[in-house]
Amino acid sequence: MSQTDQAAQKFDSSRAEEYERQSRIALAGYEACHELAACLLAASLGSGTEALLLVAGAGGTGNEILTAGGLEPGWRFVAVDPAPAMLDLAMDRVARAGLGDRTTAVSGTVADLPLDDIFDAATLIGVLHHLPGDGAKRAILSDIAARLRPGAPFVLACNHYPYASQPLLLAAWGERWRMLGATPDEVQAKLGRILQGADPPDGEQAVAALLAEAGFDAPLRFFSSLFWGAWIARKL
Ligand SMILES: C[S@@+](CC[C@H](N)C(=O)[O-])C[C@H]1O[C@@H](n2cnc3c(N)ncnc32)[C@H](O)[C@@H]1O
Repeated sequence: MSQTDQAAQKFDSSRAEEYERQSRIALAGYEACHELAACLLAASLGSGTEALLLVAGAGGTGNEILTAGGLEPGWRFVAVDPAPAMLDLAMDRVARAGLGDRTTAVSGTVADLPLDDIFDAATLIGVLHHLPGDGAKRAILSDIAARLRPGAPFVLACNHYPYASQPLLLAAWGERWRMLGATPDEVQAKLGRILQGADPPDGEQAVAALLAEAGFDAPLRFFSSLFWGAWIARKL
């Protein structure tokens, strides 16, 4: 099984169902991060413009599209995700928000898109730390870069410290679950899952190096929350 398949298989139908609530607990400031991502993209593209956005790893809440689609009526979206249960959930929410006619769903990876599909902007939110190893991380970033016009803005958001390297942040993450109602056993299970099931880049410099290798300029950080960071960069 490929590394991409492994990352997608984690998001089966049972995980998809709990993702809506879990995303808000696992990432404090989930809504704010998506709102700021949309604002940064509007500031880069120019407000009120028409644009085609690639939303890589769009499955689950569909929040990239709900938030950005509400801010900019001239934006259209291609939502790509290899996990069918996650993509279906997102497209259901997108349709209910009245954004279905501005969104095309692609069940697969960015590499499955034709190379002559060129986008004005892209997002990759909450995906990179699920891809094991630098090879898979480089591949998705390069696949996105290859489909962006020069100068196009790109929002990347992911966890970016190896979890065991930051014991205080990890403990605080567990406390956040407890604060929001998890039992001690559930907290331990969450901690066990995050320690085993993901592979974040090793710090902000590693994120910048991956982006540079894929053909982006130096990223500007606009959001931070425990292990999480969000940056905007431009395709060179
Ligand atoms: C934690 S969810 C993030 C969903 C959403 N972007 C958000 O902000 O809530 C990660 C998603 O990435 C998807 N994914 C995994 N590997 C991928 C890949 N190679 N390309 C695109 N998406 C991928 C998973 O299927 C899953 O739906």
